[in-house]
Amino acid sequence: MISLAEPVLGEKEKQALSAVIESGWLTMGEQVKAFEKAFAEMHGETEAVAVSSCTAGLHLSLAALGVGQGDEVLVPSLTFVATVNAVLYVGATPVFVDIDSLECPHISLEDAQRNLTDKTKAVIVMHYGGYLVDLARWREFADRHQLFLVEDAAHAPGIGTVVGDAAAFSFFSNKNMTTAEGGMVLAPRSAVLEKIRAKRSHGMTTGTLDRHVGHAYSYDVTTLGYNYRMDELRAALGLCQLSHLKAWNAKRRALTKLYRQLLAKHCPTVRVPFKSSDVTAAHLLPVLLSDGVEREQVMGELRAAGIQSSIHYPPVHHFSYYRARFPNIELVKTERFCQRVITLPLSPSLEELDLEKIVKTLQSAI
Ligand SMILES: Cc1ncc(COP(=O)(O)O)c(C=O)c1O
Repeated sequence: MISLAEPVLGEKEKQALSAVIESGWLTMGEQVKAFEKAFAEMHGETEAVAVSSCTAGLHLSLAALGVGQGDEVLVPSLTFVATVNAVLYVGATPVFVDIDSLECPHISLEDAQRNLTDKTKAVIVMHYGGYLVDLARWREFADRHQLFLVEDAAHAPGIGTVVGDAAAFSFFSNKNMTTAEGGMVLAPRSAVLEKIRAKRSHGMTTGTLDRHVGHAYSYDVTTLGYNYRMDELRAALGLCQLSHLKAWNAKRRALTKLYRQLLAKHCPTVRVPFKSSDVTAAHLLPVLLSDGVEREQVMGELRAAGIQSSIHYPPVHHFSYYRARFPNIELVKTERFCQRVITLPLSPSLEELDLEKIVKTLQSAI
């Protein structure tokens, strides 16, 4: 089976996990600190906060920025449901925004503008597939309307710097680097990170390690917090994975380029969103089938040939939970995109021959 996304794990990861086990200290400690520092530096920042998932990171980002009851948050519907769930966790109301176009399926700034009200407090942009949204334009938009800008950067680690008020990354096992489950938050303002750090661990003023090594005897609780901590095993994995991230992203980009060439040659009716010159961490390889092509049949034929494919994403506003809470929402471009998109395998362990097999199977399925 050629799987959609495979984690790359090796001897280094095994040794790192063994070392943590032998150290006898498993919960948030020195490995987490080292991982935070290395991740921050890679993105041109001095600090970061490691968390248990990107979902937790999005929740904490909104909470730390003071988004809550009575506020509206502009969100894409073409995203994983976690982006929107985070808005509900803080008691705010998500306002769904359409995509720009089938060629550029990012949240549309023009549609965001149309959906502004005096309750709008923040916008969450998502770097779909690893392609960065136009952050300079979004920053200008957010500043002009006095909104917080939050980046769902689950797909885009290792490229660029943070422009939003906070950015949350995912290390789930299908991401560009993994800690099995895990996430990281970056934010340019130290005060925001400080709040996120406190809320990650029940709002406590000291951690278990501080008390263990005798730096503190007790603690206070200064804010409502959660248990969204990362542990030492995951951080040790993260440090190993981070050392490969730039090379893996480069391989992903090279494979994307090759896909674009092969698809243009063998499947000219299939469109690859975005431009080959766009800045990307190349997390996904979404393609658009032309109208009239039976998507499920194509996916079935790929599966029969040992090729996994997927759909990124069913639009969030169509899920029954969201339909019930937010009925009658229509996002014409998002719906069109989501009806036609399929995601082809993309991971650094794939080679040219795999891509040829995938594209030729797609060609015959079409
Ligand atoms: C766009 C997007 N946002 C958020 C998440 C949530 O990440 P996590 O599983 O780390 O909570 C994902 C994970 O698949 C994602 O793809």
